[in-house]
Amino acid sequence: MTLRNDDLPGAAALSHAGVMEKIEILRSALRWASRLERADIEKLLRQVTALRDEVMQLSTTERFVTAAAGSAPRKQAAGERRRALLERSFVFEGTFGDNPQLLDALEVAEKAAPTDLPVLIDGESGTGKELMAKVIHANGARSERPYISVNCGAIPENLLESELFGHKKGAFTGAAGDRKGKFESAHHGTIFLDEIGELPLPGQVKLLRVLQSHEIQRVGSDETISVDARIVAATNKNLRQLIEQGTFREDLFYRLSVIHVTLPPLRERRDEIALLLAYFGAEAAENLKRQPLRMTPRLRDFLHAYRYPGNIRELRNLVYRLSCLAGDTADLIHLPHDLRPASASVPEVLQETRISMAPGVLGDVKRAASDQAERLFLEQGLREVGGTVAELARRCDINRPYLQMLLKKHGLHSRDFRVARNGGNGSVQEP
Ligand SMILES: Nc1ncnc2c1ncn2[C@@H]1O[C@H](COP(=O)(O)OP(=O)(O)OP(=O)(O)O)[C@@H](O)[C@H]1O
Ligand SMILES: [Mg+2]
Repeated sequence: MTLRNDDLPGAAALSHAGVMEKIEILRSALRWASRLERADIEKLLRQVTALRDEVMQLSTTERFVTAAAGSAPRKQAAGERRRALLERSFVFEGTFGDNPQLLDALEVAEKAAPTDLPVLIDGESGTGKELMAKVIHANGARSERPYISVNCGAIPENLLESELFGHKKGAFTGAAGDRKGKFESAHHGTIFLDEIGELPLPGQVKLLRVLQSHEIQRVGSDETISVDARIVAATNKNLRQLIEQGTFREDLFYRLSVIHVTLPPLRERRDEIALLLAYFGAEAAENLKRQPLRMTPRLRDFLHAYRYPGNIRELRNLVYRLSCLAGDTADLIHLPHDLRPASASVPEVLQETRISMAPGVLGDVKRAASDQAERLFLEQGLREVGGTVAELARRCDINRPYLQMLLKKHGLHSRDFRVARNGGNGSVQEP
């Protein structure tokens, strides 16, 4: 049974949790129904359980997609395109977004996936090239076969041939036994050649030969071995420019780019930033076992206006960092040093452009500013002592129960600062 939103009456207005709740009610009603034959009950129960399992398999991505599709008329066309992909059982592998250029890329991937044609994916760093390679693999007939990823930029030139094609025992000093290369490992599957623009010219010649003959030779061996590996390559370089500079072979470019997919940078998908923040916020909360990220309005404004040179990877990493370092609500102060605007240490209340001049407001403003300063102090302190309250109390000469009371007042939990100990106020690695 396939679950389609329009099969459920009123489903469009329902949340995922709402649908789950209805199914659970139905299941328990069926479990205790007395006027049905037991065999019928079992049958219905099996059907409903299958339905529940399918709903649970709806990924977070798909739930966000439904939300995005309903959010604005302009997005409806994109929502339709994405829904059509879903209905054709397209596997998104977590690719999120409904930017037209991204949807173009997904539709091309859908058509290219069942073929063995080479695909070249380009786009700036962090735009999802590797994710797209996985999408192509997952949607093709080879999805149960190996997916082998090779970073062409990370292999020393003298080891390249052996890495890609393997070697025979004794082929060179250190070749203690026969070894399979990446191409052989990818037999019947997909080989992902990442950073193809970094492949040195001699490696390009060898790769071209494999593309032409579908055969390889291990280093030190005369024997030719047939390999059937589907090639997907990616680059953040402009290969046409490299061809002009003489560092990339034109014939290899044409062989690799039978299907050519370009992924858009995040600055061309700005209207999706809000949804991406929510999407990765939910993902980070689940992975870090935290409450979903809450942000001050000024941090949200910053994240909406920021240019993201590192694209989706950078946005995702920022959300994880904020989720990890902020206690209850993230603010500008939780951004990495180099991104933090100068105003980050000024309490938010003083940044209001218009403060009402009514009686008593001055007192409120002072209290809010003092609260905010207290909170920033406690967060900074906890970060510095890696979440050890006793140590913070000792360093500041504050009595510990009083400090505990202050932490409680601000909703800060010392455990939230423990994971950040090694990084201190520094960076959080890509999750
Ligand atoms: N459309 C998307 N939806 C959800 N997550 C995405 C999307 N695009 C990228 N990401 C996430 O962003 C991160 C970077 O993606 P990926 O590694 O595929 O980028 P890349 O283009 O290969 O980057 P680089 O050029 O630096 O190697 C990953 O965590 C990936 O899951
Ligand atoms: Mg990559």
